[in-house]
Amino acid sequence: MPDLLHRAVALMRTTDPVQKAAQTQNLAEQWRGGQLALLNTPTPPTPPHEPGRPADLQIVMPGAVPKRRIGTPQGRIALLHAIAHIELNAIDLALDMLARFAFDPAIAANDRSDFVDDWISVADDEARHFTMLNARLQQLDSHYGAHGVHHGLWEAAQNTADDLAARLAVAPMLLEARGLDVTPPMIEKLISVGDKQSAGVLKVIFEDEIGHVAKGVHWFGKVCAAQGFGSPQERFQALIRERLPAGLRGPYNHEARERAGLGGDYYQNFNA
Ligand SMILES: [Fe+2]
Ligand SMILES: [Fe+2]
Repeated sequence: MPDLLHRAVALMRTTDPVQKAAQTQNLAEQWRGGQLALLNTPTPPTPPHEPGRPADLQIVMPGAVPKRRIGTPQGRIALLHAIAHIELNAIDLALDMLARFAFDPAIAANDRSDFVDDWISVADDEARHFTMLNARLQQLDSHYGAHGVHHGLWEAAQNTADDLAARLAVAPMLLEARGLDVTPPMIEKLISVGDKQSAGVLKVIFEDEIGHVAKGVHWFGKVCAAQGFGSPQERFQALIRERLPAGLRGPYNHEARERAGLGGDYYQNFNA
């Protein structure tokens, strides 16, 4: 039977997003039930450079995605579609975290099972988020794939494929933390136009994402310590300067970031 890491890579290659999400949730359940080995081969499998996507998915320039005016039904669909795309990428990012970095030298052997438990649980959450958003899109007579999407998020992944600390800094601690800043205003706007159902979906996502940022901060601290960096805050800023300087910007949701353990000393006074 294939092991967890080979299954994770196979799921990254899966092109049907609905299947990818459902099977990722299955995989997490099997892992929690102790039905899977972590790795049955001498070396971990190589994750793909690009995750599988439907052949007819339209990839467009970032400026060319449909406008997301929350006041109109079409605008709400565009917003939910864009977030569904982020969640789909987040599934692949969590699977990539497992396959690419579970055996990283900065992860101590006795920490490995905690690292794997954390990122399979993130993959499970992201798969649930995608599924909830796609179900909401279907209630609105749309579905994931109905609109063009852009490729920016996966470029950030490719840009940090060589380094676990950089991946943690850019993915959970910058991009997912940005989600904590921008989601509450979206929720309020959705409520103000009477779309409580979509707002409810985003509330669930928001709470879960605090946990994802927290896992990022936790493992980033471990990796910094293993690599001899005394100040994770300084290391974080150096990595962001190197990999995605324009990505760190406010306004920040300090309260949500604080709940995730991401103190202002990480991101305030940042000069690109
Ligand atoms: Fe998510
Ligand atoms: Fe997430």
